[in-house]
Amino acid sequence: MSVRLTRWSAKMKTGHKEIDEQHMGLFKMLDDFMAEILKNRGDKKVEKLFYFLGKYTKEHFYFEEEYYRGKNYPKLAEHIKDHEEFTKSLRQLRVDSFKVCSEKNMRKLNEMLGEWLRGHILNGDMDASRWIEENPS
Ligand SMILES: [Fe+2]
Ligand SMILES: [Fe+2]
Repeated sequence: MSVRLTRWSAKMKTGHKEIDEQHMGLFKMLDDFMAEILKNRGDKKVEKLFYFLGKYTKEHFYFEEEYYRGKNYPKLAEHIKDHEEFTKSLRQLRVDSFKVCSEKNMRKLNEMLGEWLRGHILNGDMDASRWIEENPS
């Protein structure tokens, strides 16, 4: 069965080295996770994904929020809300996925997370980086 994953692409490049590296890291994490699931399905792998994804996104979101705050980005509150929504969904998905830990569900989960990330980077993160570039402090 082929797997179509959302991947990082140059379109998502914000121009901020650390932020871009963190985004690539997040996609890589989803990629590795899917590979593990296909190789060796199991609750342990899923648990591991949620743990690392939760930890990594928390760090990434915090990094971005502090950076945007320091630049006085005017849509920071909205951006933080988006981050919070993701964190909440991740928590919910974690609960749900343990009810039915099937390959199909895991695939769906991976797609959802990847698509959310892609959408958020292309809209929210790109908007912030454009604003920062146009409004040098
Ligand atoms: Fe981001
Ligand atoms: Fe963000």
